Amino acid sequence: MNQPMPEVSPYLPRWAEISRIEDLTASEKLFEMHLVSGEPLGHKPGQFVELSVMGIGEAPISVSSPPRGDNSFELAIRKVGNLTNAVHSLNTGDTVGIRGPFGTHFPIEEAKGKNILFVAGGIGLIPLRSFIHFVLEHRDEYGDITILFGARNPSEQLFLDELEQWGKREDITYLETVDVPDPNWKGNVGVITTLFPKIDIDPSRTCCIVVGPPVMYRFVILEAKAKGIPDNQIFLSLERRMKCGVGKCGHCQINHIYVCQDGPVFRYADIFDLGEAL
Ligand SMILES: Cc1cc2nc3c(=O)[nH]c(=O)nc-3n(C[C@H](O)[C@H](O)[C@H](O)COP(=O)(O)OP(=O)(O)OC[C@H]3O[C@@H](n4cnc5c(N)ncnc54)[C@H](O)[C@@H]3O)c2cc1C
Ligand code: FES
Repeated sequence: MNQPMPEVSPYLPRWAEISRIEDLTASEKLFEMHLVSGEPLGHKPGQFVELSVMGIGEAPISVSSPPRGDNSFELAIRKVGNLTNAVHSLNTGDTVGIRGPFGTHFPIEEAKGKNILFVAGGIGLIPLRSFIHFVLEHRDEYGDITILFGARNPSEQLFLDELEQWGKREDITYLETVDVPDPNWKGNVGVITTLFPKIDIDPSRTCCIVVGPPVMYRFVILEAKAKGIPDNQIFLSLERRMKCGVGKCGHCQINHIYVCQDGPVFRYADIFDLGEAL
């Protein structure tokens, strides 16, 4: 008699080997890695993994690449503390632990046939990049694409080559801004909401996808609503301190929701009652 196969435990990391490291800015690096055995990661854009370094710890990190047919995927990581400093000191060929993918994903199906307005602030571009690449790989299935990206200053802009390519494409609208320019900056200056008057969208056919620092959400949502985009067509990815990633420890809880399981991607209409907690 066949024994039922034990499910892979969500608490057990799989090993991934780092195959490429690229400096993005002074504090962010891109790590391409591949799972050394088993199935591909199988993530959807917007989901995250729990990344661990033996003897140091674990942290939630968004998958920044779109789904691929092989075992490889990309994480872009800002060095801020114990785990991320340890990851930044690793080299190609080193291995890390990966649990997941976890959490909800961006509305890849629901947005098909619609226009998409992507709004990324700072390292919010890391998770959004997965969905942007996915949409560009399936360009015919989506309508008008607009990408707004804001960084504090030009040296904090991530994925410079890709930003340049998006700016040149005729089938998307790409607008960028910085809060504080340097002497070489010739573009828009101001917070990301200063880009909204420059865009022309059909709100009834537009999904707005927002990822950025907490302070950005309230103001971007006001702009999106002022453009006429309904609450159920606005999606946000929330960041909270996490431990287990699977709804057991309560670290990520806000009122009645667990960000690790009910999110990190939420439809604004489902969470607008969180108010200040957003
Ligand atoms: C769903 C999700 C996706 C994410 N995706 C990414 C990603 O793609 N790339 C990325 O770079 N980051 C991402 N993050 C953020 C990342 O998980 C955190 O920055 C994580 O804390 C880094 O771990 P660390 O051990 O390096 O830093 P920590 O040692 O945890 O320190 C991080 C910062 O938090 C402060 N801190 C430490 N403990 C506490 C505490 N108890 N209360 C308040 N502040 C504290 C520290 O002083 C430091 O400034 C994501 C987070 C979430 C929830
Ligand atoms: S991180 Fe443990 S419940 Fe969400």
